Amino acid sequence: MSSKACRLNVHLDHVVGTISRNLYGHFAEHLGTCIYEGIWVGPESRIPNTAGYRNDTIEALRELAPPVLRWPGGCFADDYHWRDGVGPRDRRPRRINRHWGQVVETNEFGTDEFIGLCRLIGAEPYVCANVGSGTPAEMSDWIEYCNASADSTLATMRAENGSPEPHDVTYWGIGNENWGCGGSLDPEDYCGMFRRFSTFATGLGRTRPYRIACGPCGNDLDWTHRFLEKLGGRFGLIEGFAPHLYQGSAGTSLRFTDAEYYDLTSRFLGMERMICQQRAAMDGFDPDRRVGLVVDEWGVWHPDATPGFLKQQNTLRDAVAAAAILDVFNRHADKIVMANIAQTVNVLQSMILTDGEKFVLTPTYHVFRMYRPHQDAQLVFSELESDRVQAYPDKTDDPTLAPTLAGSASKQNRTVTITLVNRHLTEARIVDVRLIASESVSVKRASGTVLTAETPQAHNTFESPAAVEPADQAITVVGERFKHILPPCSVTRLQVDLD
Ligand code: AHR
Repeated sequence: MSSKACRLNVHLDHVVGTISRNLYGHFAEHLGTCIYEGIWVGPESRIPNTAGYRNDTIEALRELAPPVLRWPGGCFADDYHWRDGVGPRDRRPRRINRHWGQVVETNEFGTDEFIGLCRLIGAEPYVCANVGSGTPAEMSDWIEYCNASADSTLATMRAENGSPEPHDVTYWGIGNENWGCGGSLDPEDYCGMFRRFSTFATGLGRTRPYRIACGPCGNDLDWTHRFLEKLGGRFGLIEGFAPHLYQGSAGTSLRFTDAEYYDLTSRFLGMERMICQQRAAMDGFDPDRRVGLVVDEWGVWHPDATPGFLKQQNTLRDAVAAAAILDVFNRHADKIVMANIAQTVNVLQSMILTDGEKFVLTPTYHVFRMYRPHQDAQLVFSELESDRVQAYPDKTDDPTLAPTLAGSASKQNRTVTITLVNRHLTEARIVDVRLIASESVSVKRASGTVLTAETPQAHNTFESPAAVEPADQAITVVGERFKHILPPCSVTRLQVDLD
């Protein structure tokens, strides 16, 4: 295997900011088998469960320390009426899930079950309210049901449903993709509705709502300018603004050429461009950054995702693509406050796949597990030397020409975490890591973890659940320097404990 040398300088004294744990957020929609089967099987199921939540899923998600979980959609949110999903389960109405497969939605999993899930996995709830087909009154009642501590009728209803203590939901989405499935609105009309809904999304009990507006489809700057123009400086109504950016596909989930591999794994550049340009557009109206940039849907969406259910396989290629994007989030921790990958189980770039009782972790799950130490750590400035790989070398204007390597570095207490992606399919990179600080650096211990496989198509199945799994690597540090081999098509985490 051929290899090239490169350098990484990590400036330990140069702290750029804190990497919000919320950049590692998740999203679970009533779509396909994400909620029903993937998370909730009901207390009577023969699949091992705790009060209806499947044990294997809960245990795996807890390992990720998921900071925040968005629910109930997605497109489903603007067709969802929360009252359908509270009270005795056997009396809840059966509705049609119009957006996703037109299956019967039993409403067995509703607000209280969602909060129960968040408590079990340790995530903050993020509820997306219905703007498209709902009313401000319905949304403000939902907030009262969740957050009121006084003995109002809705708070009493919550107590009778088993939760005397308020749910304390901070994050509220005011609609989802209202330019599309959430109402086909233009930015001015949506902003008018946002202002109205947001006015009634007030603080109750001990919780102040963090209200997140629907941002553009991808990096559509026109939506952002027109929405913020129409907002007219009413920054008392808004805390977050959320574009969605999917990475699309090149080939299918399991069948792709080398060029398509390079193409898909170069899409982190599009995410980086969107974060920088959207933040710059927002800064034009909001230079003090009172409104946070939230990417509350992202991930790879392959054309063979099952129609209406969006279930797809997940390979090492997807894991490499996700890792490069998480490094972008880290490096732009001063510009972005939350991100939520789509979606948790059985939908798009999921962490987990199930089929009845069967259960498997995806390569993307392992990336989230490996990147966990970055949560709430301090981003430190780093310089990573990299050549570039071109997906389609015969195209002179190939937009996928992107660095071979991606990475980021953070520190928390006395531990430095460095994550590195080598996108090259056949060449290793020998990275010469140098930890730079004003005082001399003394390393107590260092360890490495790598995620790779023989081919980028490698993936985990119920029959071979460990085809793509992280492995430990030894590191020998001399002074403040060490060399480390990044195998082709790999994601690596290096952890260094300082004296
Ligand atoms: O994540 C699947 C769908 O993608 C969501 O429901 C919608 O918001 C987006 O278009």
